[in-house]
Amino acid sequence: MTQVSGSSDVPDMGRRQFMNLLTFGTITGVAAGALYPVVKYFIPPSSGGAGGGVNAKDALGNDVVASKFLAEHNVGDRVLAQGLKGDPTYLVVEGDSTIADYGINAVCTHLGCVVPWNASEDKFMCPCHGSQYNAQGKVVRGPAPLSLALAHVNVDEGDKVIFSEWKETDFRTDEKPWWA
Ligand code: FES
Repeated sequence: MTQVSGSSDVPDMGRRQFMNLLTFGTITGVAAGALYPVVKYFIPPSSGGAGGGVNAKDALGNDVVASKFLAEHNVGDRVLAQGLKGDPTYLVVEGDSTIADYGINAVCTHLGCVVPWNASEDKFMCPCHGSQYNAQGKVVRGPAPLSLALAHVNVDEGDKVIFSEWKETDFRTDEKPWWA
């Protein structure tokens, strides 16, 4: 709590006002930028501040809710969500109608195009220079030098989908993750 009382962290805002902001979660973008070091201290991991993970967001910027997501998508779908560091990241609907515990970063490892999913080919196929990745994002054709990055995917108690960093072995290659 000592961080809150440090006036250097909260230059133009009274303490009570600041606490109200935290309570109601109505921080504007500008204020959030100014307050980031303080806010980060308070936010639980599942909300994305303390290194535990971030909420997956849909195209409208809303949190992805697992039950709703599964009701709207079919087995085998790869659906873009906003992931770690804002990167477009695919959520995968698995055969048992669950969300896979890994997400696939959609940023091509060649020059950074967002790679679309091609369901009929069962591959991710980059429109920029023709790189291809299998259904799990493992590179199968260059010029991309590396597979698409992975993120962990979990569903929290509130049914929200959470991305977190993947630092373990890449299960597709049995190698260390190049992105970690
Ligand atoms: Fe994807 Fe070049 S950016 S193949």
